[in-house]
Parts: sequence; C-alpha cells; structure tokens
Amino acid sequence: MNIEIRKEAEALHSYVVNLRKHFHQHPELSLEEWETTKRIEEELMQMEIPFTRAAETGVIGIIGKQGPVIALRADIDALKVEEQNDIVYKSCVPGVMHACGHDAHTAALLGAAKILKAHEAELGCTVKLIFQPGEEISRGAKMILEAGHLDHVEQIFGLHVFADIPVGYVNIEPGPRMAESDYFKISIKGRQGHAGKPQQCVDATVAAASMIINLQQIVSRETNPIDSAVVSIGYVQCGSVRNVIAGSAFMEGTVRTFSREEGRRIKNAVKRVAMGTAAAYHATANVEYNLSAHPAVDNDPDVAEIAFSGATKVFDEKAFIEVPKMMLGEDFSVYQQRIPGAFAFIGAGNEEMGRAYPNHHEKFNIDENAVTNSVMMYLSYVQEYVNRKEQEAKGQGAVKKNSSQDGGLFGRFQKLRKEREAAKRG
Ligand code: NI
Repeated sequence: MNIEIRKEAEALHSYVVNLRKHFHQHPELSLEEWETTKRIEEELMQMEIPFTRAAETGVIGIIGKQGPVIALRADIDALKVEEQNDIVYKSCVPGVMHACGHDAHTAALLGAAKILKAHEAELGCTVKLIFQPGEEISRGAKMILEAGHLDHVEQIFGLHVFADIPVGYVNIEPGPRMAESDYFKISIKGRQGHAGKPQQCVDATVAAASMIINLQQIVSRETNPIDSAVVSIGYVQCGSVRNVIAGSAFMEGTVRTFSREEGRRIKNAVKRVAMGTAAAYHATANVEYNLSAHPAVDNDPDVAEIAFSGATKVFDEKAFIEVPKMMLGEDFSVYQQRIPGAFAFIGAGNEEMGRAYPNHHEKFNIDENAVTNSVMMYLSYVQEYVNRKEQEAKGQGAVKKNSSQDGGLFGRFQKLRKEREAAKRG
C-alpha cells in the first residue's frame, strides 16, 4: 500500500478544517449528537462509504471488504461549557461547546476516510471508522462494544488533540497513558447544638475537616511513591450559621489511578479513613463510592509500535516527544479491555495565536494544523499495519520489530513487550 500520506493529507487541509469549523459551531452534548451524526453520514455517503448507526447517535463506517479488520476511533460529543472565544465559528448553542477538541477528531477521521477510500483497492484489510458518541459521560465506548461493533476487530487506534502540547508535536508511547477516574460522596452525621456548648454536640464540621486531612495521606503515606494517584476533595458543605454546631456535613471527591487494583485499594482506604475518622469524633460516616465506568488508557506495545513506526515515516524525527501520562479520563480504555489498542496525543496549541488554553477551558481552541496532523496519524497507523501484513503474507515471516539497541522510545516498546509476555507466561 502506498499512500503519500503527507501530500494527500495536506491536499485535504481545507476540507477537514472547514468540517472542523462546522462541528465547532454546532456542538451537541453526549448522546444527543443528532445533527453531528447526520453530517458524518452525509459525508460518508458522498464518499460512497457504507455505514450504520453506532447507537442512536454515532456512526460506524466501513472501508474494504476483506482481510483482517482494524478500527479507527474518533469521539464526536461536546461539553456543557459556555464558549468565550471571539471567533466567527463560535458555538451557536448557548452553554455547549467543543471544548475538548472532539470536533477536530471527527473532522480528521472523515479526512482519513476520504483518503483510505481512494486507496481501497490496495487496502488488503477492512477499516472500521468509529465515530463514537457519548465519550464525555463515559458511555459511548461501552455501547459500541455491547452492540458488537468490535467483534472480529483485531486492533484499534485512536487519538486526542491537546492544546497544552504545542502544535507539530505528536506522542505515542506504550503503557499507561490516561487515568481511571473514580468518585465518592461522604455524608457525616454528628449531633447539632449550641456553639457555646460543644460538650453536648458532635461537631460534624470538625470531623469533616479532620477527614479531609486524613484522606490526603492515602496517597502520601499508603501509595507506592513510584505509582501515581490522586485523591481530591472538590466540594464540602457543612453548617449554616456561626453559632450553631453543624450536625451533618457532606463532601465529594475524585480519585485518579492507573490500574484497577490501585483504584480498588484506594476505595477501601477511603472507606476505612472516612469511617475511622468519624468514629474518632463520635460521628458516623456513610461513603458512596463509584468506580469509574472506564479503566486507565493503557497502550498495547505492539499496536503503539505499529502506529509509532508508521508515523516516523511521515513526521519529522523532532515531532516525536515524550509526554507524561495524564490524570484525565478517556473511555477509549473500554475498547482496550477487549482488543489491543493504542492512543496517540496530538499537539494542538499555539501560544502566538492565543490558542494554548487547556482542554475543557471556555477559551479552548486549537491550531488547525493539528487536524491535518491527526489525519496523517490515522493514515500512518493503517498504512504500517497493512504493509506489515503484506510482507508477512509474502512469506517474509513476521516483520522484524525495532530492537532495543535503537534506544529511546523503541527501546521502551521492546522492554514493555518483554515484560508483558513474561507476565502472561506467569
Ligand atoms: Ni476529550
């Protein structure tokens, strides 16, 4: 297969940028992406790419009719954010905004689809295009999986634009990339009374204050310092007036980890610390704990290496940077529970253009060269996958993987692959 990826993607630049602006101007909330879905279907229809609905919203397109099946994923939903950008394509829906760049993902996957369709004859495999709804509420990936759209799919590749990574840079690494995010609510019950007679009361405010401090020590004192975890309490409510001791208190927090085991361990610790602290103050605590609908995004070393190797043939060497794993959540991980997958980060920020606000910010915007870079990243992965399959079929055996002697990222792919193989053998 021989797509001139950079040339063909750059030729489509205004097509994908116009689409991105269109989606940006017409954002829709999770699982309500009706117009977005229609527009995607219209584009696919024009490209003569067959498709079905992913769920009530969202689209699955199919290119190619034979061979192994791989999937490319873009999410399509927007956020409850009031846009504060002063741009001509500003959101025309009050209180709703593409503040996470899913407009760019949708446009980029349509661009990649157009190019792949033109090369369908040499594809040698089938590519499923997953335009996923409901990512922001962590439900879309699960729905697609349950509808069977990933049955018989061998691998999946996805990506995300980030405006706090400068445009021009890209990142694909093996291993954990984005966190599992759990959340909890704690209700504390004490005994209300006069502020001048504390001996008759059980002060829920003091119990809550102590609990907040003690919960912070789960990470600092109970978590292996080599591992990363966060416990944050973002909301506290107690008391109503200065001369009444509060009889109840309430707080909400979130926990971020990179493995289910760690998530469960912290869950138990939060319950133990909350109830133990309350008891120390003669109060009681009720903990409602919700484990995330999605685990951590954990890149399969083989898929990540295919995407990385493919990308090295398209992007300049300097484009590749290492990016620390992030404490943000992403339901791409739901697919990775079922099949091997990899997820790339695409730089989209441009300080000079004033487009470097972090994702979810009311002034979030991207340098649109990131959309074309995303198109190239999707295509790099597919082309590398197809070419390796072809080489294997020609009897050249499995393609030699890059050796650890290459150092840097390649070395890490090799190391992680070995570790995981060893772990599988037990
Ligand atoms: Ni996002």
